[in-house]
Amino acid sequence: MGIIEDREKRTRWFLSDRFGMFIHWGLYAIPARGEWIRSFEKISKEDYMEYFHEFNPVNFDPKAWARAARNAGMKYAVMTAKHHDGFCLFDSALTDFKSTNTKFRRDFIREYLEAFRSEGIKAGLYYSIIDWNHDDYPAFGDRFHPMRDNESYKGRQHNFNNYLDYMHGQVRELCTNYGKIDIIWFDFSYDDMKCERWRATELTNMVRSLQPDIIIDNRLEGAGDGYGSIISSSPELYSGDFASPEQIIPPEGVTDSAGNPVPWEACVTLNNSWGYNSSDKTYKSPKLIIRKLVECVSKNGNMLLNVGPNAKGEIPEESLAILSQIGRWMKLNGESIYGCCKAEFPKPEWGYYTQKGKLLYAHVFDGNIGPLPLIGLKGKIKNVRLLSDGSEIKLIDSWNTKIYDSESFINFGSEGSLTYPLPDEIDTVVQLELL
Ligand code: GLC
Repeated sequence: MGIIEDREKRTRWFLSDRFGMFIHWGLYAIPARGEWIRSFEKISKEDYMEYFHEFNPVNFDPKAWARAARNAGMKYAVMTAKHHDGFCLFDSALTDFKSTNTKFRRDFIREYLEAFRSEGIKAGLYYSIIDWNHDDYPAFGDRFHPMRDNESYKGRQHNFNNYLDYMHGQVRELCTNYGKIDIIWFDFSYDDMKCERWRATELTNMVRSLQPDIIIDNRLEGAGDGYGSIISSSPELYSGDFASPEQIIPPEGVTDSAGNPVPWEACVTLNNSWGYNSSDKTYKSPKLIIRKLVECVSKNGNMLLNVGPNAKGEIPEESLAILSQIGRWMKLNGESIYGCCKAEFPKPEWGYYTQKGKLLYAHVFDGNIGPLPLIGLKGKIKNVRLLSDGSEIKLIDSWNTKIYDSESFINFGSEGSLTYPLPDEIDTVVQLELL
């Protein structure tokens, strides 16, 4: 089979599950200014080690994280096994810079995987191909390395192949020692640090031979600023299984050069930070997240929504509160998300459609004045139900719709031609069974 056919087969569950949890966690939770702190503040290796010696997340409880994800309606998760700072949250034999050497002494990744799997959530790993801790990773003159401007690093000898052996070795450990891994989320390529610079063919072949069903993102070749060859008609072997737009929903979804849909997943923060940031209170409302999840699905995409646990190992209260409100809506309306995709009808003025076979879901965001038009659906509807309680909604034929009798209309409430508030002001989902 070809690369595109394999990709379609592998991503079937992923494109049905639609909604996942991203977890960014590491030593950077202590300074609490985001996961890029070592680079942004040009912190030396020695100074950063203080956080390593201190790290002791006494309230780490991955089962609680997994419950929060499940209750929010999330079906899969991706957690940082190593971020750009190089700290490993798993028991790698290839480094001492790992969680089992902290005061806490535990393999966070093993416990995360077990906890999420036992809640029925598919579990994946984020792995940074960039590494600011490894001595064989380019430092001086690199675009991002914390020591990029430090003259004492100028001319320092390093052997990039040693780093690649290390990086490949760790990916091998993750794909060998932890059972079935559902997703590996490599992050990220930049400048000439992409594709075969990572020995990407070799890496991809190794991952696929150890984990035949695994889904790989597109960042051995791309990043948030470019998708790589996954959107071409002849993708590279290492082009990955899905595109990963970051902090944006692609205006038209993602398609390849021939117009065929390409699997994609928007990764999104709950505030404006991935790693724990104690002063970032810019949380998005549950309403916004729900509506944006609907938008993703209406464009054939997924949403991977991030949480950044703190130095004690807790998901911030604000995040938990948002997740639980998302969960309330998902319990009533999840059918209009899971297994759904872009509808065969154009986007309506009042919201979005999602579709699953003969079931068309009208996501009504805007309140209406009188009857709500369902453009282009006249004669195509078998019945109409409010998804949250299964109650009947009648197609309206009244004095003020008569003039538009080539369209169908619905309304909420008993008097069809008058205005009623929407039953759910976040997103009222109406299920239209098509003939
Ligand atoms: C990035 C950042 C990062 C974050 C990620 C999530 O490119 O480097 O810190 O982990 O995207 O998508």
